[in-house]
Amino acid sequence: MSNVDYLSVAVEIAREAGALLSKHAERRVEIEYKGEFNLVTAADRAAEALIVEQLRNRFPSHSIVAEEGSGIDNNSEYVWYVDPLDGTTNFAHGFPAFATSIGLALRGEPIAGAVYDPVRDEMFSAEKGSGAYLNNQRLRVSATPKLAAGLFATGFPSGRRHKEMNIHFFHQVSMLSHGIRRAGSAALDLCSVASGRLEGFWEIGLNSWDVAAGLLLVSEAGGVYGDMRGGPYALGGVELLATNGHVQAELIELFGEVFQGRYRAPILPITS
Ligand code: IPD
Ligand code: CA
Ligand code: CA
Repeated sequence: MSNVDYLSVAVEIAREAGALLSKHAERRVEIEYKGEFNLVTAADRAAEALIVEQLRNRFPSHSIVAEEGSGIDNNSEYVWYVDPLDGTTNFAHGFPAFATSIGLALRGEPIAGAVYDPVRDEMFSAEKGSGAYLNNQRLRVSATPKLAAGLFATGFPSGRRHKEMNIHFFHQVSMLSHGIRRAGSAALDLCSVASGRLEGFWEIGLNSWDVAAGLLLVSEAGGVYGDMRGGPYALGGVELLATNGHVQAELIELFGEVFQGRYRAPILPITS
């Protein structure tokens, strides 16, 4: 089966799962806790069950890594990364920013991906070597050349708050750019970079299911990604920086200063 077929299956399943999420969103969902601030709902589980069942039917020999734990390890070089509901906290509060993300990697490299936003009916899709699309429209990252003229996104994983140091990076970028949006769905943040709505996105501590599809969207739209120190990023990596390519080096330089405790924009003491 060619990649084109993989992509159309991913698109079809992501759309179905998104429709299921919308149905759940019509009523107030009950919140459960996976950790102190790490939420899960019946919608996460129902969407994952739908996606995993369909993937297993169509590709029985492939492996599946799915956030809520229903995946299967078939020791295959093809691995599907499934985030049935990216943006659970938003979803649980009725804040309309969430998506279903399905990515396929071959020997660790993303080759097909679909991210579906059921709120806006936006289907982001990409296949390696064939470009990135929003619905049927070809995507291109922005041409914005510098940090000072860019709009950025980041996130703060709910599972490891006590280890979070991102506020230092957040402060610098917010002072030195057009600003930061923290909308709560890493998959959609990456699609926003791919579609030129944002110049860049970074986060510390994401999981492979958050990014497998979105990263392919970024690279197929002409963007780049790596870690936050100028090194490469592979699925499962801790630090991720994805941009339109033009601002990547500038951000790596800024982040390098922050890693060393040097702040271009000082954090001011509170005065009365
Ligand atoms: C979360 C979202 C959020 C990001 C967190 C992720 P979830 O995924 O992508 O934007 O900041 O790191 O865990 O838990 O809603 O699937
Ligand atoms: Ca997620
Ligand atoms: Ca999720």
